[in-house]
Amino acid sequence: MPNFIDLKDLNKDQLIDLISLSLKWKNNNCAQFMKDKNVVLIFEKPSLRTRISFEVGINQLGGNSYLLNEKEMQLGERETVEDTARVIERYADMVIIRCFGHDQLIKYANISEVPVINALTDFSHPCQVVADLITIKEHLKDFENKKITWFGDCNNVLQSWIEASGLLNFELNIACPEGIKPDEKTISWALERNNNISITHEPQEAAEGANCIITDTWRSMGDKSPLPEDQFMPFQVNKKIMGLADKNAIFMHCLPAYRNKEVSSEVLEGNQSVVFDEAENRLHAQKAIMQFCLKLKF
Ligand code: CP
Ligand code: NVA
Repeated sequence: MPNFIDLKDLNKDQLIDLISLSLKWKNNNCAQFMKDKNVVLIFEKPSLRTRISFEVGINQLGGNSYLLNEKEMQLGERETVEDTARVIERYADMVIIRCFGHDQLIKYANISEVPVINALTDFSHPCQVVADLITIKEHLKDFENKKITWFGDCNNVLQSWIEASGLLNFELNIACPEGIKPDEKTISWALERNNNISITHEPQEAAEGANCIITDTWRSMGDKSPLPEDQFMPFQVNKKIMGLADKNAIFMHCLPAYRNKEVSSEVLEGNQSVVFDEAENRLHAQKAIMQFCLKLKF
């Protein structure tokens, strides 16, 4: 069953194919490969980009989407996760899930007879990173010899970035406060494939010569014990940090952004920021991910 749960479940060629396919979809709105396909979206957490880009994508490709939001569905609450999966597979051709516990998603995917896509869990956000990789390819041409630096929290988006660096071998620097760290198992997995991954608590060092600087909120949805903001403050992406990066460096953020917290308003609105291209690319990436899961070739 071709699910899309985590990037590390893919091999390098599959991830490269997804990037090429996403760029292909960006220039082609005519295909109707989801005609007569029904897709259920289970969203236990709020969403603007992920939900709408999937629904618009399904619609443009000729399919139908059905949303169960947080008021209607909390996995494992009204019935078991397994029973939910066994019912939905009788109606739908694919399920897209945004939930809290990654283990709930795995449980669902293990029993589902139809493909399951991870639309964000507390652990990872792989769809976001496919869109981010397209954005890098468009603005920086390639990943090779590029220094990509992550600033701030060690969260779900970073998790998927580490997995991408393990597959694609680009240099990934993580600048985070002391007291938090990325998932150790994933770091070991990625380091076995790519020794160009480092973690530092020195923001200036991480920014120097970077081709791409990325950050995200300091407090993710459902984050129960975030560090106090003053510990994150040295990791704010501002003009000084961008000034240390390569002169053609880009700034990325998955959004929603909190101005003058993780990123200064000036950088977010500045000419190095590609955050709205990144948001648009969610739509193109979602189509490629759904095509991958439906095993359709063109
Ligand atoms: N970046 C992202 O996933 O945004 P939403 O939470 O709005 O879907
Ligand atoms: N890390 C953020 C990403 C939102 C798209 C969160 O989980 O809230």
